[in-house]
Amino acid sequence: MDAPGLLEVLKRRTGFTEAHAQVLKGLGGLMTPIAFEVALAFYDYLGRDEEMAAILHAVPGRVERLYATFVRWYEELFSGTYDGAYAERRRRIGLVHARIGIGPQHMIPAMGIVQELSLEHLRTALRSFEVFPAVEAFEKIVAIELALIEESYLEALELGLRAGHREVREALVAGARALLEAS
Ligand code: HEM
Repeated sequence: MDAPGLLEVLKRRTGFTEAHAQVLKGLGGLMTPIAFEVALAFYDYLGRDEEMAAILHAVPGRVERLYATFVRWYEELFSGTYDGAYAERRRRIGLVHARIGIGPQHMIPAMGIVQELSLEHLRTALRSFEVFPAVEAFEKIVAIELALIEESYLEALELGLRAGHREVREALVAGARALLEAS
């Protein structure tokens, strides 16, 4: 998967320009302080699902580690820099989840929680004329994030199937493991 190349395609398709990058950067001061709060709500949401809760608690200290990685991820949404290295980090996020066996169907609803909390904060913290440009830029970057993550799932699945795994979940996990080891 050419993550940097795909990022450029996705920017074109979503109409994400440097102006949107600057809007997101400008929102950083407002949004990064709520990163930990969003992380708490996010893992609380995941923990209410039996299957996801089992994954979260399968390894001691995992949830605590996840708060830190989630906060870093959330802050990066508002960094203003969306380059090849950023695309590679998003590819890795998809692969890390695929390797654990978290199916791609979990990602969009989970991102919905991030959107719900973030949009509510934008709505209450910004002046009314500032809301639309902020939401527009935020929604574009979320679409790009999801597309990069989903594509990396596909990359893992394809590799796993080619390696001879017939069962989809097995192929996904094996493909993701091989790709992470190679990177
Ligand atoms: C919007 C969706 C999600 C985002 C943005 C996200 C973010 C992240 C990030 C940034 C990492 C660290 C990746 C790395 O090591 O490079 C991670 C790992 C992980 N995530 Fe997620 N995640 C999402 C959905 C989920 C879901 C639905 C689950 C279900 C339980 C989950 C459970 C985990 C687990 C178990 C790890 C590995 C933790 C470890 O290192 O042991 N995530 N996630």
